[in-house]
Formats: sequence, C-alpha cells, structure tokens
Amino acid sequence: MMKNKLKILFRIAFLFMVFFYACNSNNQNETPKESVNMVEQPQFDYLSEGKKIAGEAQSVLGKNLMNAINSKGTKYAVEFCNIEAIPITDSMAKVLGASVKRVTDKPRNPNNLGNETELSYINRMKADIQNGETAKPLMAEINGKMIGYYPIVTNAMCLKCHGDKDVTIEPETYKKIKMLYPSDKATGYAANELRGMWVVEMKKK
Ligand code: HEC
Repeated sequence: MMKNKLKILFRIAFLFMVFFYACNSNNQNETPKESVNMVEQPQFDYLSEGKKIAGEAQSVLGKNLMNAINSKGTKYAVEFCNIEAIPITDSMAKVLGASVKRVTDKPRNPNNLGNETELSYINRMKADIQNGETAKPLMAEINGKMIGYYPIVTNAMCLKCHGDKDVTIEPETYKKIKMLYPSDKATGYAANELRGMWVVEMKKK
C-alpha cells in the first residue's frame, strides 16, 4: 500500500516536473520504507528520482545566483558563489535526503574536480553533444548506492563568469575570479557546452 502511494506520488512528481519544470516545487518529505515486498512492482525509477533532486538543487542555486547578479552585479555574484555554492548544495542535500554535488573536468573550485569515474562520464556526455545529441544522464550502482549523473550545460548567462575575458567576462569580474581562484580552469566556454554534472547519490531501496 505504501509502495502504491509512493508510485502515485512519484508519478505526480514526475509529471509536475515535466510540465512545470521552471517553477519550484515544494519538497516532498516522503521517506520510503522497504517493508512491503510486491512482485509486480516495477523497479524503482532512480534515474527520475535523481533528476528531480538535481533539478531542485539547480533551481535553488540558479535563483540565488540570479538574485545576486540582479541585486549587486556580477562581480559581487562571484563572491556570492564563492561563499554560498557549496553550502547551498549541501543544505539542499539534507532537505532532499540524498547527497548532491557538482563536478567538472575544468574546475574553478579545485574541490569540484571529478574523480576518474566521473571524468569518464563527463567525456561520454561531451561525446553525446559532439554527435549532435543532447547529453544523456547516466546511472550507476557503486558500493551499494545508486548514483545518478546529470549534465550541466551552459547558457548565455553563464558566460558572464565562464566565457572569455574581455568578451563576455567583464574585467572587474575577471579580476575577482582570479583573486578568489588563482588556478581557475573554468573559462573559455561557449553556450550549450558541457560545464559539468550533478552527481546525486541515493540510498538503494
Ligand atoms: C557570477 C559569476 C558566475 C556565473 C554567472 C556562473 N557561475 Fe558557475 N561558478 C562561479 C563560481 C565563483 C564558481 C565556484 C564556486 C565554488 O567555489 O564552489 C562556479 C562554479 C561552477 C560549477 C562547479 C564546478 C567548478 O568549476 O567549480 C559549475 C558546474 C558551474 N559553476 C556552472 C555554471 C553554469 C551552468 C552557469 C550558468 C547557468 C554558471 N555556472 C554561472 C561563478 C559563476
């Protein structure tokens, strides 16, 4: 019964996500229990669940970033990202009951460099884009955990801080970036390029 409820809930959540992706949904505090064992129950859809979680985290981070840029400008927003990006994703992870992080092959913050496995998935997603397809999310089971990988693709707004110096990145912003991140590798992007991935680690149900 619990599982049926859950199934309906996830279906609703999924539909909600598809149709109202841009809006920010409220968090659902359902903690799935693994007591009932039903034979016809289809396998839990980790890929969709992880996508929902990555979408929430992206939406919260994006909103905060836009607010920072609009209220005090791009240079200030760099400082904001410097202080807030990791705490925001961490607190999202707590709310959502899964671990969430961003990783990349060209890090601004060295802590966000992907490990070997993650880098290989980044390369696969880049290959998707090179082949004219959209980058596909991936799912892996590692040490008994279900891990979803979701592409982070650039748009024009990102180029204010991840594009080219003096072209899309203003000199003042660039200075601030270099000051906070002397080993920054996260510039030179165009729109619609793979900037990294969300990595969502879920408990196996
Ligand atoms: C106002 C400047 C600014 C804008 C605009 C911006 N970023 Fe960033 N970005 C940063 C900073 C600063 C960091 C480092 C955050 C940290 O220290 O964790 C960062 C880090 C990241 C990371 C984590 C990996 C890494 O390199 O450390 C990703 C992924 C990322 N940005 C993607 C994007 C995308 C996609 C967009 C557009 C939707 C975007 N950023 C827009 C400043 C910006």
